[in-house]
Amino acid sequence: MSDDQDTFDLFGDMHPYNKRFKVFTRLPEKGRDEDEVLEELAYMAEQENPKWQGGQCSGTMYHGGMEHYAFLNKVFSLYSFVNLLQRDLCPSGTKFEAEVLAMVGKMLHGDDVSKVNRMDEEAGAITSGGTDSIYNAMYVYREWGRETKGITEPEVVAPATIHPAHLKAAHYLGMKVVRVPVNADFEADVEAMRAQINANTVALAGSAGTYPHGVVDPISKLSDLALEHKLGLHVDGCLGGFILPWIEKLGYNVPVFDFRLPGVTSISCDTHKYGYSLKGTSTINFRSKELRQYMYFTQEDWPGGAYVSPTAQGSRSAGLSAAMWAAMVCMGEEGYLKAARAIMDTADKMREGIARIPELRIMGRNSTFLIAITSDVFDPYFVNDYLASKGWRMNGCQNPLGFHFCITLPQTQPGIAEKFVQDLADGVKFAKDPPYEVPKTGFLYGMGATADGREMMRLGMRGYIDAGYEVE
Ligand SMILES: Cc1ncc(COP(=O)(O)O)c(C=O)c1O
Repeated sequence: MSDDQDTFDLFGDMHPYNKRFKVFTRLPEKGRDEDEVLEELAYMAEQENPKWQGGQCSGTMYHGGMEHYAFLNKVFSLYSFVNLLQRDLCPSGTKFEAEVLAMVGKMLHGDDVSKVNRMDEEAGAITSGGTDSIYNAMYVYREWGRETKGITEPEVVAPATIHPAHLKAAHYLGMKVVRVPVNADFEADVEAMRAQINANTVALAGSAGTYPHGVVDPISKLSDLALEHKLGLHVDGCLGGFILPWIEKLGYNVPVFDFRLPGVTSISCDTHKYGYSLKGTSTINFRSKELRQYMYFTQEDWPGGAYVSPTAQGSRSAGLSAAMWAAMVCMGEEGYLKAARAIMDTADKMREGIARIPELRIMGRNSTFLIAITSDVFDPYFVNDYLASKGWRMNGCQNPLGFHFCITLPQTQPGIAEKFVQDLADGVKFAKDPPYEVPKTGFLYGMGATADGREMMRLGMRGYIDAGYEVE
């Protein structure tokens, strides 16, 4: 048990299975029975899956079909133990990854890059997830800036809504992300970003679907700005990159964010989100092979042999790449379009319902698959409290306070949109006269807006990670 009991109370019961199953604090002396282990694991999965299967959970489970997952797990099992770094043993891995990158490249209009410069050829790599893709892109801009411009204190200018993965990468890589406040529509303020460009700037960044509000930044204007100043431009399409192209094809007005824009030099796009593959894969796509080369690491003189790897990761499971490939070829364009249609039908229904509730306001004017809600009348976290009591699990936002619902396939089940709108309306009644003073939802809510509160939240967040590593 931690010496800080309060930390555990703060984060709820993080060890609900400790009373039911043996807790291991060291290796068992003798190996356990496999059937018994499987039974235990199945019990835990059965407790947890219903939390999202009913369609009340925002984001995180993008496909949700258990048959789809069973198929991908079957594919994974064929290659789960194979290491993609040992490529002579698995030429299949080359097929999976090269074909996935070709398919994603096409989807992001990679063919257009040679129209701008006929020497350029869109080129990508597979990573373990969005954060990893962004890390590798940031690393490329650091190296490119140093080599081509002699920049030793590299800076990236980005809107305040940019995903923390950029700041995390900058933290690891000794870079700086200059965060610029967004405009009233929660989109990047391009002129304010321009004002932050200086001699140390290596790249700009924007999102195609921001995580907080789901909006697409004005990437076209950022592209012009990047070209004007000869900077890189990373587009974080981790969330939206795999669904916005299909939403655009359905006829919705989606701002162009991909390689059709001549200033876009990299795009991260997560296969493990709206690509509907297993968790643990993403793609990072560059405008040229030359740019991609900055990501590679080689050490020729290592006693273990001449070492080379494409990304920050070392050994990687071929099983995940096989499952990613299988998910994509089995979905096909038709499957992705159908999924996008169902998601947009649901999102549109929810948006229409929300528009009939005057106390609520949707944040952002160009969001599609994600709906971020706030209120100018009361604290929106009281509405979220009510929703939580009805089994909904939203994602909390701040600056301004609110919450978002990232619509995925589980929400497309019949009746979910209608139930959400009804519970939201009831939540508004609840929020107008709440029976307590401080909302219960919204992580460490009520202190987030003060300097002291931020420090407490930071400490609390670190305690949360610590608590997740305790066995009881
Ligand atoms: C816009 C955006 N960028 C990056 C990420 C990070 O992705 P991951 O959690 O796969 O590392 C996310 C995750 O939700 C995201 O929404």
